[in-house]
Amino acid sequence: MSQIGDIVVGPDQRLKTECKPVEKIDDGIKELAARMLEDMYATDGCGLAAPQVGELIQLVVIDVDYGSGKKNPYVLINPTIVTADGDEVETGEGCLSFPGVTLQVKRPSHVVVRAKNLDGDLIQYEAHDNLLAVCLQHEIDHLHGITMFDHLSPLKRVRAMREYEDALANGAKPGDVE
Ligand code: NI
Repeated sequence: MSQIGDIVVGPDQRLKTECKPVEKIDDGIKELAARMLEDMYATDGCGLAAPQVGELIQLVVIDVDYGSGKKNPYVLINPTIVTADGDEVETGEGCLSFPGVTLQVKRPSHVVVRAKNLDGDLIQYEAHDNLLAVCLQHEIDHLHGITMFDHLSPLKRVRAMREYEDALANGAKPGDVE
């Protein structure tokens, strides 16, 4: 019953795995997207990638407007980053698969992404210097086995991993931030 229990929590090999492209947008994919959106809203996340629910395919859901009280879900199938440039900006990021920690991650501020939606239409998304720009990059990383820890310097990564282990030991659950 617990939807939050569906979230894969690190460390887990599934979070380090290159995911396969979706070949056919069938009912199974549509059901998975709907379930992922439910999980994301239930945990107050702004994005969720399929490997985070144990499905190693290239599917991501995002909603950066939910905090404002209105749902505006995006479903991205086989997303690719066309452009990632602009000044690097540092943002405090959380991840449903690494509960209890917020990490300062530097990423390019401008991003253009192309992905199919559930209707099979190719959609282009562009984001500059906002939560969507961060979220697109963070979620697409998940499809290639990359987590926010991988963007830190070795020293900061060790520190962040220790902080995360402490958070887990203290019972952090998906949706908890710092
Ligand atoms: Ni994440």
